[in-house]
Amino acid sequence: MKILLTGGAGYIGSHTAIALAAEGFEPVVLDNFSNSHPTVMERLTEVSGRSMLLEQGDVLDTDWLRQVLQRHHPVAVVHFAGDKAVGESVAQPLKYFHNNVGGAVSLMRAMVQATATGGGDRTPALVFSSSATVYGDPATVPITEDFPRSHTNPYGHTKLVIEDMLTAQCKADPTWRVGVLRYFNPVGAHPSGRMGEDPDGMPNNLMPFVTQVAVGRRPFLNVYGNDYPTPDGTGVRDYIHVMDLASGHVAAVRTLLQGSQGFTVNLGTGRGHSVLEVVRAFEQVSGRAVPYRIAPRRAGDVAQCWADPTLARTLLGWKARFGLEDMCADAWRWQNLNPQGYRSA
Ligand code: WQD
Repeated sequence: MKILLTGGAGYIGSHTAIALAAEGFEPVVLDNFSNSHPTVMERLTEVSGRSMLLEQGDVLDTDWLRQVLQRHHPVAVVHFAGDKAVGESVAQPLKYFHNNVGGAVSLMRAMVQATATGGGDRTPALVFSSSATVYGDPATVPITEDFPRSHTNPYGHTKLVIEDMLTAQCKADPTWRVGVLRYFNPVGAHPSGRMGEDPDGMPNNLMPFVTQVAVGRRPFLNVYGNDYPTPDGTGVRDYIHVMDLASGHVAAVRTLLQGSQGFTVNLGTGRGHSVLEVVRAFEQVSGRAVPYRIAPRRAGDVAQCWADPTLARTLLGWKARFGLEDMCADAWRWQNLNPQGYRSA
């Protein structure tokens, strides 16, 4: 059974492709490589032991997308493709609404067209890569799925709008099966060290910045504020291993294929860790120093954000297995073996 992964050459998408292949599915990677590297395809073949199908193109090209769907007849689509830098979204909101919201509209329209003119295929199940950022600044933690949604930046706004579009489409056509996954903070890498997170330019996120300091690409880490109302004053987040996130996608696909009409669940560990806890854990695991300086708070950051992952366990039979030490060890192995990321190839 084929599963189409839009943005499948990206960080979460590529690790999900590995997990789906391991479960006997046939991933079809769809990517325009605007924020990922073609070398990922070779690594997918190496790590999974099989060559993976690639459709190179842009999700905004609806007619091409319809042809891809009719060519492969996937039983499910996982929609990863989109831009994800919070800061960039504030500077370039139109890029984010065009690529993220426009891309989702294009995919959904292609799915309608493909089955309207196809040979009686059922509309594929759809899993959407959403984000905890739709909760804005939560009044309390841990966060459950019924918490109010809000947006504090255009990136988060696009995720919220796409969730609403999916809800409207499911109401209009009850044959649609949609699983919405709200990621907390994805970190880590495949344990082989051959795949991992490889941001372009200066990393926005904590872990890739830490690994680049440890490997010598950057002199020190800026800790954005140590005066938050948290145990050590630095921001607290629910870091989740990318392989746990990948297995969460497999569980979501299986649940939809086994008859679920759809769901919205948090994918997190249910535990929060501060910035300094991450730095200390990373130094212990890697044996490398991570010098840091306390810098001013970053605009838009919230003090604390972590998940109540109960619903994912109840509905999908999924729970995170890896802890912070595993996340640090796997992130370090990837960075140490690939100091320049996929460009080291
Ligand atoms: C984590 C903590 C920072 C960098 C965002 C998006 C979310 C998802 C993950 C896409 C915070 C601190 C960070 C640094 C630091 N993105 N930090 N120095 O902001 O929680 O979430 O990325 O899917 O949707 O909102 O993640 O890793 O940027 O920050 O001190 O150089 O680390 O202040 O407390 P964030 P992050």
